[in-house]
Amino acid sequence: MAEAADRTPPLVRTDRDGDIARITVANPPVNALSHAVRSGILAAVQAADADAGVAAIVLRCDGRTFVAGADITEFGRPAQEPILSTVLAAIDASSKPVVAAIHGTALGGGLELALACHWRVAVQSARVGLPEVKLGIIPGGGGTQRLPRAAGVAKALDMITSGEMIGADAALAAGIIDQVVAGDLDRAAVELARAKAAEGAMPRLRDRDERTAEARGQSGLFDAARAAMARRARGRTAPEYAIRAVQAAVELPFDEGIAYERALCDELKASAQSRAQRHIFFAERDAAKVPGVGRDTPVARIGQAAVIGAGTMGGGIAMCLASAGIPVTLIETTQPALDRGLATIRSNYEATARRGGMAAADVETRMGLIRPSLAMADLAGADLVIEAVFEDTAIKKAVFAEIDRHAKAGAVLATNTSTLDVNAIAAATGRPESVVGLHFFSPANVMKLLEIVRGARTDAGVLATSLALAKRIGKVPVVVGVCDGFVGNRMLRARGRQAERLVMEGALPQQVDAALYDFGFPMGPYAMGDLAGLDIGWRIRQEKGLKSAVADRLCALGRFGQKTGAGWFRYEAGSRTPIPDPAVEAIILEEAARAGIARREIANAEILDRLLLPMVNEGARILEEGMALRPGDIDIVWVYGYGWPIQEGGPMHWADARGLAAARDRMVELARQHGEDFVPAPLIERLAAEGKGFADLPQPA
Ligand code: NAI
Repeated sequence: MAEAADRTPPLVRTDRDGDIARITVANPPVNALSHAVRSGILAAVQAADADAGVAAIVLRCDGRTFVAGADITEFGRPAQEPILSTVLAAIDASSKPVVAAIHGTALGGGLELALACHWRVAVQSARVGLPEVKLGIIPGGGGTQRLPRAAGVAKALDMITSGEMIGADAALAAGIIDQVVAGDLDRAAVELARAKAAEGAMPRLRDRDERTAEARGQSGLFDAARAAMARRARGRTAPEYAIRAVQAAVELPFDEGIAYERALCDELKASAQSRAQRHIFFAERDAAKVPGVGRDTPVARIGQAAVIGAGTMGGGIAMCLASAGIPVTLIETTQPALDRGLATIRSNYEATARRGGMAAADVETRMGLIRPSLAMADLAGADLVIEAVFEDTAIKKAVFAEIDRHAKAGAVLATNTSTLDVNAIAAATGRPESVVGLHFFSPANVMKLLEIVRGARTDAGVLATSLALAKRIGKVPVVVGVCDGFVGNRMLRARGRQAERLVMEGALPQQVDAALYDFGFPMGPYAMGDLAGLDIGWRIRQEKGLKSAVADRLCALGRFGQKTGAGWFRYEAGSRTPIPDPAVEAIILEEAARAGIARREIANAEILDRLLLPMVNEGARILEEGMALRPGDIDIVWVYGYGWPIQEGGPMHWADARGLAAARDRMVELARQHGEDFVPAPLIERLAAEGKGFADLPQPA
């Protein structure tokens, strides 16, 4: 036993620099506050406090960052002492000043640990934040009580309800840290500790009242925070609880505030919302793990890229690359198309800069990285080529043959097709192993999802390079197989079929959309159709000889959606707000009568089941076919590509949370009236019969 323990380096160790005890946390990769780390810090602080030779304490971390948070794997289990607040209470009780030395990111429990110290110094690149709301909880180690005492109520509300990080300079200005260190952080921390020990200065945030006193009696502050949050939180509980906890910091004595914060935090930890948000957190990490792609899979360096087509998607993709500092050659067929594309890119960047999303000077830097061209030969220097021309197999094949002629050996050749066969496109080249689908979502510079479509011949290195690229440009990648619509759009179609039927059976577009909006989606299928444009689907239906009674009539009237001021809804000039339109209702009633349908009242609960259960069913088929690797991957697609509310965890998690057997039973019931979309997939039948859910499926090897 002792021998084994000796060989494992301790997670927390103490060394001495003269009369300063330096406590170091070494728990890679992010120094998470696991039970062992909490115990180690507690013991080290108590030992240093009891040691007469120690004048002051420095708390620091090895590796790439200060403590970057709790150990989330412990969330599902009962808290085990010492819990974080026990450790922080020991720091509060210390008779010697404790200085936190921060590098990397002090996040969540890490920032709470630093706030319990008497002094905080940080390197300039350090960042701090309380991201707990992103996991559906609030800080539970005093963050909601100490941060307002350090930074004031408005700043604390902003940071805790958003979960966003701020940099060291901003943290200094806000009063969250005491010093930004230009040189050696450890030396500066030790010197500060020694100086403060000599002064006998050890202020505790728990004793400070002046910042919270400013807010006392200003209930308007909290009302304003609630009003601002209601629009953003969309049914998430954690931001409201965060506001309550900060309000307690203003209204209650410190210890009562701490107890109140803990109670709220514990309640949230046990909530369905937090379970869903944690699921998404882990699913996002798992999605980056792809069988056949390992640490030793070579990743190509992307020094230069080329994008073919400067339309809606090509322009957005070029922006993603340029924003990440990657030079892009943007290739079009005609000068006017190229000029239009560039003008759109510029105006998007300028709008972002106006809103404060980027520095004004960066507009020119990024535009400078985009080199317009009318010659395919100009893609020769690119390590990555992304095609985003018209959705037409013949055109794409011709374009890929051309790309093949000019691209250098080893370049990644990607198509942004949303429906076409990536294998057929790859076969137009002499190097199908270099071809991959990179399916961005519109607007490509905003939406976080990237479906990486693995073709039959796609090389592992090409996948590894695509995954690395996704990370570099700030996207969340999910690897999917070649099938019609891949994962996202294939499931969207299942939802769309029911949306159409619901409107014929008795609902109106605004009711269908409201049901999904209230569930937490940013918009429903009808507002989404109006946003994307109804003409595209109309043209496809005409080519394929398909009909959609109401939609076809709207299109015949020139109602193509927002761009024509009317579609399923009407739009006032310059506004994107959908307004229900009696003219549309009249068309719906006529078409329903023509089809012989007796319209009926449809309850919102039925609307939700009708829209969401077919998606779950399609998701199960996608899993059976191996088109997605894991249920969590499908959830990621829906949360990051289509705005499925994160607190509902994505469609597969949603079905699990409801109980897969109960979902199956409801599907069987709906199948009797509404047909095959609801006949449970064999995978659902099997899991439900075994009393299991999607989450019980084994991870792919
Ligand atoms: P778009 O019509 O806005 O842009 C296509 C552009 O490609 C046009 O500017 C056209 O001039 C150019 N182009 C056509 N042939 C070309 C050639 N041989 N060489 C160079 N440029 C050429 O179309 P959009 O919406 O950008 O779609 C592009 C691709 O992205 C399609 O495959 C589409 O399915 C896919 N996609 C579209 C999404 C959307 O929401 N619009 C979402 C995800 C994928």
